[in-house]
Amino acid sequence: MAEHVDLRSDTVTRPTDGMRKVMADAEVGDDVYAEDPTVTALEERTAELFGHEAALFVPSGTMGNQIGMRLVAEPGQEVLCDADAHVVTYEMGAAAAIFGLSTRTVVSDRGLLDADALIAQVRPQGDPYLTPTAAVAVENTHNRGFGRVQPLAELERLWEWSRGAGVAVHLDGARIWNAHAASGVPLDTYGRLADTASVCFSKGLGTPVGSVLVASAERIARARIWRKRLGGGMRQVGVLAAACLYALDHHLPRLGEDHEHARLLAERLGVDPASVETNMVVLDGVNAPVLAEAAKAQGVLVSQVSPTRIRLVTHLDVDRAGIERAAAVLTELLAR
Ligand SMILES: Cc1ncc(COP(=O)(O)O)c(C=O)c1O
Repeated sequence: MAEHVDLRSDTVTRPTDGMRKVMADAEVGDDVYAEDPTVTALEERTAELFGHEAALFVPSGTMGNQIGMRLVAEPGQEVLCDADAHVVTYEMGAAAAIFGLSTRTVVSDRGLLDADALIAQVRPQGDPYLTPTAAVAVENTHNRGFGRVQPLAELERLWEWSRGAGVAVHLDGARIWNAHAASGVPLDTYGRLADTASVCFSKGLGTPVGSVLVASAERIARARIWRKRLGGGMRQVGVLAAACLYALDHHLPRLGEDHEHARLLAERLGVDPASVETNMVVLDGVNAPVLAEAAKAQGVLVSQVSPTRIRLVTHLDVDRAGIERAAAVLTELLAR
């Protein structure tokens, strides 16, 4: 049988031949000494792309998010976010367990940012009875919102309010590239609406490893200490940064293709294509374990997100033929 069509996540991509070549050829040095020229080039390029002063290469989106939040909140202070945010759902309680941060969540409509609803929950600094809200965290695109793009007007509203309120904004931009590809909003516009932002190269951009945290130079100097403290200081890691630079040149411009594939999949499966904003399709009201198992038996891998919900994610490693094959298998199974 042909290889699986793996639609579980955009994290399953394998480096392409072109990417492997630049990795093999990368100029490297000891990055804990800040002497890896390829890492430095990636950090400088990413900082510039997002309109920030500085950046730090970190091994994962989780580390980028958690350090990012710690830079803008002190132990005992609170980070406010939506109830389905990755930072509170999938990061193993790191904010509390490692950094002493309190998190509080607001239920949202599939992750959609409602700035006023979030603002209404903010607790002031300096009150002797209340845990102060030091920061809010926003996810764009939203993972558990199935690739939803946050409306620019809401991001702007939150940002403008936050300046007067002395509350920081952290962006979980694991898939900010997809938001940019779908909305046309420039990356630096998204970047300028956050004090700290973590962006991932190992999702839609298809690298094996790597995220970058962007912020002010002062904050990134502190982030470097946190990264070392957490054991995230890496040595000749230009081999990985080279993959990220390659991805910016070769994979960022093609993200629209993944979005087209997701819409095509939705159409074929009778899902409203308008509900597909980027690279994720959700099948609701299905027997998820049965469907996932049957699809797997026919070479199509999908993600069960609840007993009645399946998620399909398009990415670099699934071409049009793979999409057609997955659509045919799933259509037949859904008709049973
Ligand atoms: C929205 C979002 N943020 C952060 C992360 C964490 O990234 P990592 O798995 O590299 O820690 C993910 C991972 O899928 C994610 O989807």
